[in-house]
Amino acid sequence: MTAPDLSMAQISRRMLSAKAEQFTESVIREMTRLAMKHGAVNLSQGFPDFAAPEEIKEAARKAIADDINQYAITWGAKPREITICCGSTEAMMSAMMAIINPGDEIVVFEPFYENYGPDAILSGATPRFVKLRTPDWSFDEEELSAAFGPHTKAIILNTPNNPTGKVFTRAELEFIRDLCVRWNAYCITDEIYEHILYDGAKHISMACIDGMRDRTIVINGLSKTYSVTGWRVGWVLAPPEPTQPIRKVHDFLTVGAAAPLQQAGASALHFPQSYYDKLAGSYTAKRERLLKILERSGFTVFKPRGAYYIMTDISRFADPDAVRFRADTKDVRFARYLVETIGVAVVPGSSFYNNAQDGASQVRFTFCKKEETLLAAEERLSKLRA
Ligand SMILES: Cc1ncc(COP(=O)(O)O)c(C=O)c1O
Repeated sequence: MTAPDLSMAQISRRMLSAKAEQFTESVIREMTRLAMKHGAVNLSQGFPDFAAPEEIKEAARKAIADDINQYAITWGAKPREITICCGSTEAMMSAMMAIINPGDEIVVFEPFYENYGPDAILSGATPRFVKLRTPDWSFDEEELSAAFGPHTKAIILNTPNNPTGKVFTRAELEFIRDLCVRWNAYCITDEIYEHILYDGAKHISMACIDGMRDRTIVINGLSKTYSVTGWRVGWVLAPPEPTQPIRKVHDFLTVGAAAPLQQAGASALHFPQSYYDKLAGSYTAKRERLLKILERSGFTVFKPRGAYYIMTDISRFADPDAVRFRADTKDVRFARYLVETIGVAVVPGSSFYNNAQDGASQVRFTFCKKEETLLAAEERLSKLRA
């Protein structure tokens, strides 16, 4: 039998995954690459550009010197309900792959952290999006109720929230709890910003809401709390039933996270309260600094109550290059203009929405940066005209 003559396009369609074709590369990480290319101040990707705490670095050096250098037990050091993963990114992916079956739906608030889109596609879940609406990013209870149904396997929650800075209240969590109980669904809650809170906002974990302990899967990690985004250590806390498949998926995805960094992370979890107070205090000052810069430059800002991002509305600015880049949405054209001409990298709002048009008048800034970086951004943004 002779092989059929195939065009290059046909060959690649046959050889590549249809799932991977459904999503693009990360827009957030692409903006960091563009920032480097154009020598722009990077206020796009959420990684600190200041030093990690000395104590955690010392703990990592000690763990290596003490020869904690071989495979860790695959799910982490203790036989409990915790699975240690390569960042909360892998934690989320492992959790979703462990519970999703064909036909399952997940409820996702939008704007959402962009990874949840590909997570849904790769795990095979069908997302049902529910809007968080400006100015306070509240949700409509009827809209949320309508998104749940007999096929709902889980709701994805992220509090404190990226990109909005929303911190879900107890009343909101209880409303979500009632829907999870009614439709027998899990809540997967990404709590990676749990210690970064402002104006007296309190983080409440869904796992602590009455009746939710057995249906909550908590995702967390070292990246944001200890300013070590490059270490790639995160974890899943889940009830025993889902913990078993989560550990299996995690094992065959990655075997385990870096052993000495897990050891250093375990010691960081014992830092005194003063560490967390200082972290929140320092981010409060940075938030105020960037809010002022953005307001002075003409952005409409949505003041975050947690995490380290500011979502802004860009309606007051002219639409750059609307003719040349007609296929893009305004936020993408504006972000391109900012990085190439003004010299500041941000994330276009559309990357946080299922329908690009919904984010077309928003861009996201991060303020997990040192004063010199914020100062440089201030100087450059002063060239903007609203
Ligand atoms: C909401 C949210 N979850 C997860 C992550 C990724 O965390 P990790 O570095 O632990 O993979 C980020 C990073 O920006 C995030 O904003």
